[in-house]
Amino acid sequence: MALLRLNHVYYAYERQIPALADISFSLEHGECLCIAGANGSGKSTLLELIAGCMKPSSGELWLEGACSPQGNRAGMVFQDPDNQLFMPTLWEDVAFGVMHRGVSPEQGREQALKALRAVGAEHLADRPPYKLSGGEKQRAAIASVLIMNPGLILLDEPTASLDPRARKHLISLLKSLDTSLLIASHDLDMMLDMDARVLFLHEGRIAAQSAIPGLLTDQIFLQSIGLELPLCMQAAL
Ligand SMILES: Nc1ncnc2c1ncn2[C@@H]1O[C@H](COP(=O)(O)OP(=O)(O)O)[C@@H](O)[C@H]1O
Ligand SMILES: [Mg+2]
Repeated sequence: MALLRLNHVYYAYERQIPALADISFSLEHGECLCIAGANGSGKSTLLELIAGCMKPSSGELWLEGACSPQGNRAGMVFQDPDNQLFMPTLWEDVAFGVMHRGVSPEQGREQALKALRAVGAEHLADRPPYKLSGGEKQRAAIASVLIMNPGLILLDEPTASLDPRARKHLISLLKSLDTSLLIASHDLDMMLDMDARVLFLHEGRIAAQSAIPGLLTDQIFLQSIGLELPLCMQAAL
């Protein structure tokens, strides 16, 4: 049975034309699915619907266990990690979610250190988040989602503010996770590296779905939905 299923989902912000129209797809347990699309194509709206930030205007969205007493089964890593980090030290930020659920500070710290270890950032536990680099913040934001044990992690443009080395580290971190992933991005090179299925969004609708490399190498298709060939392919031209 699928972990996530969307059936003819529409979403319109107030009095606007739909930001998402007729979206149907499913995600299996343990699968990584990338959502590719130009700016404004609806990627963030789609992730926010799945995270439960808002409800579809019509259609059905079904996420396994979403109504369980443990609460939301999808954890969102927002595009700007600064939105997720606001405590005096990093471990307190990472532990915020579990401590909010009643875990003691001692246990919270222990769980935070474990989550930070999983993303290779345990040494940053006692640092103030605002003094970290973009890549370090991104890792911490992932740790603060991992600690909640979500069945599905949603990442919104995770490579957008990273330099090449931090980007490489992030990709190998994401590949090492055994959680199901949904990654929204216009970084097609990352999608090639992730070796995942790709769903292409264009003006709020699904333009195509493809297994890697498939449509990621189709310049005419990509340009028709406002994207360009992955940089690694452009270099080969
Ligand atoms: N809070 C909002 N209110 C009204 N319209 C919005 C809001 N957020 C996004 N939109 C519109 O919805 C469409 C999809 O936006 P978004 O999901 O942010 O796309 P992407 O993440 O792919 O750049 C765009 O036309 C955008 O202008
Ligand atoms: Mg967005």
